[in-house]
Amino acid sequence: MDELRRQFPFLKSGALYFDTAATAQKPQRVIDRIDRFYSKQYGTVHRALYTQAAEATAAYTAVRQQAAQFLGASSSDEIIFVKGTTEAINLVASSWGATHLKVGDEILLPEIEHHANIVPWQLLAKKNGVILRPIPVTDQGELNLKAFHQMLSPCTKLVTLAHVSNVLGTEHPIAEIVAAAHAVGAKVLLDGAQSAGHQPIDLQKLDVDFFACSGHKLYGPTGVGLLYGKKELLESMPPYQGGGDMIDRVSWEETSFQPPPLRFEAGTPMIAEVIALGETLSFLTEVGLTQIQQHEQALLAYAEKQMRDLPGLTILGSAPKKGPIISFTIEGVHPMDLALLLDARKIALRTGHLCAQPALRRFGLTTVSRASFGIYNNVHEVDQLVEALDSSLHILVGG
Ligand SMILES: Cc1ncc(COP(=O)(O)O)c(C=O)c1O
Repeated sequence: MDELRRQFPFLKSGALYFDTAATAQKPQRVIDRIDRFYSKQYGTVHRALYTQAAEATAAYTAVRQQAAQFLGASSSDEIIFVKGTTEAINLVASSWGATHLKVGDEILLPEIEHHANIVPWQLLAKKNGVILRPIPVTDQGELNLKAFHQMLSPCTKLVTLAHVSNVLGTEHPIAEIVAAAHAVGAKVLLDGAQSAGHQPIDLQKLDVDFFACSGHKLYGPTGVGLLYGKKELLESMPPYQGGGDMIDRVSWEETSFQPPPLRFEAGTPMIAEVIALGETLSFLTEVGLTQIQQHEQALLAYAEKQMRDLPGLTILGSAPKKGPIISFTIEGVHPMDLALLLDARKIALRTGHLCAQPALRRFGLTTVSRASFGIYNNVHEVDQLVEALDSSLHILVGG
């Protein structure tokens, strides 16, 4: 653990970082990989014969294969490089949604989704008349499975949901959801922003149709993410954007396109970011996703236990399966005041609506505090957090 922590230069500042669910700190080897590429190996991909370009293309292409393995896809052709989870979902909505969905078709999604998995579908609904139907969650933050099964019908064309909720940490029972959705002919999109990098992912086993995640939450660079789509689905989808690289032949009369995944990657891609994403995938694989999951689950259980003892503190969501995320409120304490007090002690804690306003509204709230954990957090840090929360409580509510 100490050796792992030493790999993250940010930790040398002495700050305590509890906002990995928003974005993760970077290990030195990812930072070095970006530096090495720009300073020694820089070149474009796909379209030049000189050495740097050939080497950049080889490094870039290898990451697609690596990502396919990391996610358990059946082929690298099922992996599209995107900016992040948000762009991945927008791509599916704009391309697959606009082509395959029509007036009256229904999209089911939990009422606690991140805005990234709500707004693209609302934009689509405005354009082509599909209907969005929020699936209720229980007071514990679990999907109301009875309601979900009742809502499914031949009109359901898509079930789209976060693997792990960024607000409540809830991990939904994906196998049951996928089987039920497929039984009525609906596709499933899994938003893996909060699950990738925190547990092993096997997309062939999960049998979802689309999967999205963000590199920056995986200890990798910003500006890069992954969209997985089953091959036959990607083949049925028109381009998302037009430009260089995604075409086969261009003439004034007609343009033909590359097969997936290149069809969906218009223009010079984020070469350095993709190559550095490869480095972070190697890093995560070497540390071991099962080990990461065990470590974070132990930390989650410990932190929840300690935090529950604090007077007036309520943890949102108590699903039996949770990711390493604790959203909470404290009676009489505004989350912003708390965050400022903790910041003065060099503790980074998230506050606000967590890009999930409907989710907070479901629990009668507009703002919460959130502590989320990554591979570098440890029990000692959790103790410091709990102690800081306790003393902040004394300042903010007295006693
Ligand atoms: C569940 C979930 N979905 C989607 C996103 C959007 O990710 P990005 O901003 O990297 O595109 C986030 C980010 O917080 C998230 O937590």
